[in-house]
Amino acid sequence: MGRIAYVNGRYVPHGEAVVHIEDRGYQLADAVYEVWALFGGKLADPEGHFARLERSLGELSIAMPMSRAALTMVLKEAVRRNRVSEGSVYLQVSRGVAPRDHAFPNPEVRPAMVVTVSRVDRAASDARAAKGIAVVTTPENRWGRCDIKTVGLLPNALAKQKARAVGAVEAWFVDELGFVTEGASSNAWIVDGDGRLRTRDTNANILRGVTRHTLLDLIRNEGLEVDERPFTPADAVAAKEAFITGAGSLVLPVVAVDGKPVGDGKVGPLAMRLRRLYIEQAKAAAV
Ligand code: PDD
Repeated sequence: MGRIAYVNGRYVPHGEAVVHIEDRGYQLADAVYEVWALFGGKLADPEGHFARLERSLGELSIAMPMSRAALTMVLKEAVRRNRVSEGSVYLQVSRGVAPRDHAFPNPEVRPAMVVTVSRVDRAASDARAAKGIAVVTTPENRWGRCDIKTVGLLPNALAKQKARAVGAVEAWFVDELGFVTEGASSNAWIVDGDGRLRTRDTNANILRGVTRHTLLDLIRNEGLEVDERPFTPADAVAAKEAFITGAGSLVLPVVAVDGKPVGDGKVGPLAMRLRRLYIEQAKAAAV
């Protein structure tokens, strides 16, 4: 059975799914998105992603295309029609279609909405986690509102390609003070020499990762210490462990930064434990 996409009210074969050439998402990146991991065909961290979607739209004065309940139905119907159990759902909402003009259309137009569903091979991701990944660093060059999950991802795409070109999986942005902000599509963490977890605080110009947030709750429940304090690439190399989090990567150990091994260069036990904990709770709380 072929893939199905949802486009502005219709479920259509993926290969025939199209948006208008004057969709503002296409011309101006005037659009936001969300990605939910799917476990057993259910949406992981539903509340966190819906709340962030509403916030991203609100910050840009784009209306919610439909109620949260209706949106949930569309996402679940898209998943059902694609018969995907393990994977992810992608939702994109743009300001809509209007003759090209930088300022907002007046009168307002209806937001445009697209949903796609992808399958992932969880056995392959588990194998990747067991091996750990390499990351590279790259100068932070994004705009000042990375807390809004917009489709304006060109710096992220270029950073990811820089990683891919040398066989790494993720790129970490480094700000002008030398601190890691986050990954091109994930949040960045280390376990420092004292065994304390460190990740950048959300007052910095980063995306407030939903996986990051859920994991922070789990970590605190485990009685572990977290320090939301910036770290440098050198701190990461000197650390015991490093990992990334996101709806795509879940919790993924990092074993090298810019070609230098993190700690002893092996996948860390805490990162693997947090990966298991996260997946277990995400499965249990999925809707
Ligand atoms: N990316 N930081 C950035 C820049 C991201 O793009 C993402 C997610 C994250 C992690 O956020 P969350 O835990 O809410 O997924 C952090 C998604 C998965 C993507 O672009 O495909």
